[in-house]
Amino acid sequence: MAEKIDIIPHASREDQYKNILPQIKALIEGETDTIANMANISAVLKEVFHFLWVGFYIVKKDELVLGPFQGPVACTRIKYGRGVCGTAWKENRIIIVPDVNTFAGHIACSSESRSEIVIPLRRHGEVFAVLDIDSEFENNFTETDSTYLELIIKNLLK
Ligand code: SME
Repeated sequence: MAEKIDIIPHASREDQYKNILPQIKALIEGETDTIANMANISAVLKEVFHFLWVGFYIVKKDELVLGPFQGPVACTRIKYGRGVCGTAWKENRIIIVPDVNTFAGHIACSSESRSEIVIPLRRHGEVFAVLDIDSEFENNFTETDSTYLELIIKNLLK
């Protein structure tokens, strides 16, 4: 297992994703525990991109329950269809929110959050968790993030 993540100084976000993708693969290969791997993925994304909050919510019955994360303390439970996370779960799709103030029902775990991306993790087409990333900057997520974050979380599907 790699012990340190190699970060390219001043690289574009896309180049940084390209750089960390194989490192994440190496970091979690050989480890079958999904929670442990979610924890390390959160740590890498936080360390490389300094996002405000990076973490996973895990589907448990009719709720999402807080999983491994990096950042300030967060809400522990989110109902199906609630907030950005619960909506991404219900609609089984990636949601990018350029400005959280314009998303009806956005759950503000941190008053500093300005934009957000949520990626559903699926097994056999069914959502079993979501990856949620918050930024203190408006409009901080694009299709580049959804493309690479999807590639990153594919490593969790074992
Ligand atoms: N903003 C999210 C809640 C989770 S926190 O951002 C960590 C939402 O609306 O679902």
